[in-house]
Amino acid sequence: MTNGRVAIVAGCRTPFAKSGTVYRDLTALDLAKACVRELVERTEVDPSAIGYVVMGQVIPSVKAPNLGREVVLSTGLPKESPAHTVNRACASANEAIAEVASACPARMAEATSAIASLAEAQARFTAFSRVRLRDLVPETPAIAEPSTGLTMGQSAEKMAKENGITREEQDRIAFLSHKNAAAATEDGRLPAETCTVLVPPCYEVAVSADNLLRKDTSMEALAALPPVFDRKYGTVTAGNASPLTDGAAAVLLMSEAKAKSEGYEPLAYVRSWAVAAVDPGGQLLMGPALAIPQALERASLQLSDMDLIDMHEAFAAQVASNIQALESETWAREKLGRSRALGKVDRDRLNVCGGSIALGHPFGATGARITTTLANELARRKGKFGLLSVCAQGGLGFAMVLER
Ligand SMILES: CC(C)(COP(=O)(O)OP(=O)(O)OC[C@H]1O[C@@H](n2cnc3c(N)ncnc32)[C@H](O)[C@@H]1OP(=O)(O)O)[C@@H](O)C(=O)NCCC(=O)NCCS
Repeated sequence: MTNGRVAIVAGCRTPFAKSGTVYRDLTALDLAKACVRELVERTEVDPSAIGYVVMGQVIPSVKAPNLGREVVLSTGLPKESPAHTVNRACASANEAIAEVASACPARMAEATSAIASLAEAQARFTAFSRVRLRDLVPETPAIAEPSTGLTMGQSAEKMAKENGITREEQDRIAFLSHKNAAAATEDGRLPAETCTVLVPPCYEVAVSADNLLRKDTSMEALAALPPVFDRKYGTVTAGNASPLTDGAAAVLLMSEAKAKSEGYEPLAYVRSWAVAAVDPGGQLLMGPALAIPQALERASLQLSDMDLIDMHEAFAAQVASNIQALESETWAREKLGRSRALGKVDRDRLNVCGGSIALGHPFGATGARITTTLANELARRKGKFGLLSVCAQGGLGFAMVLER
């Protein structure tokens, strides 16, 4: 695997913000434009070399349904660049990256580059023909499973109970998410991945930092929070769940040959990926525990080969449940048809720059944030392999292996 590889050249995201706060009046397109423009500027890539744009978006806009194309037309990219928009729920960003990665070496030969770019802002207003009062209320994203009616939070609660994930274990994952994200913010690693967003229409307010991160959170503060989704017997709280978030992120991909000929030092290369699904009627957010083994198998690598692991934290209970499955012989036997567990997840290599609990989770952008952070951190540590995973609505799971 040399010249056929797909290089991750760079990534950039907007600061992530609690939904309905600083980006309240912005659209997904506004946010996507901000990070795509910044990515092009920072990398000094010749815009005319951008051959394709793929955007991931979970809550489509009625005004700009093909967000990818609108980004092309509003950021100075060549108007002849085709673009499309994909939805694989919370793994939409990953899907966009995988689609560009599939196209890069073949369709785009060695002379082009492509941007996979992902965005999410809250859906604004529902379409209406007769105005009723409830039409004027912003529509909130659907976080209930259409097939079961259970919300994501209720599903996480169910997983915590069935898998015996304690409140303390969940709070520890949340605590480490904030602690690691705070350290990576303090020393500049995460700020280096973000752009500043000037908020229209006056452009006087500049958003330059994530606003969900709590540098001062503690196990005691987390333990004091009440459960949200099962108020009596539950363990999932506002502290150990990812919050509803607005933000966008973009990743620049090129064929290895193009990156080299242009003088870029790629952060990492895409080695393999896999998508899997579980029955949402069982444990909804277990997709990663199926996708990870497949991605590793396609990469001909073991879990123990991974220098870093970045797992999307929809809920701490989901992270703990997936880790439990990867380390379980029963899961291996019953779900993977293997005699041995996939292996131990080294917690010291997990989400070393924090995760979605601390930073937030704009549904369509998280996969690009994770890909960028994992690639940057792998390069910084001179690691060889990195693994990322994302769980998504409908019981989906996505995993990708990066290499250097
Ligand atoms: C869990 C959820 C309902 C909480 O929403 P919320 O009530 O708006 O959350 P808030 O940010 O207001 O937090 C509630 C309280 O917890 C506190 N809190 C939250 N995280 C904390 C932390 N780490 N440490 C200390 N306190 C914390 C807040 O300060 C707030 O306290 P207050 O009521 O005194 O102001 C919401 O974030 C949610 O729905 N998350 C899941 C989203 C989802 O399903 N996504 C899909 C996953 S793929």
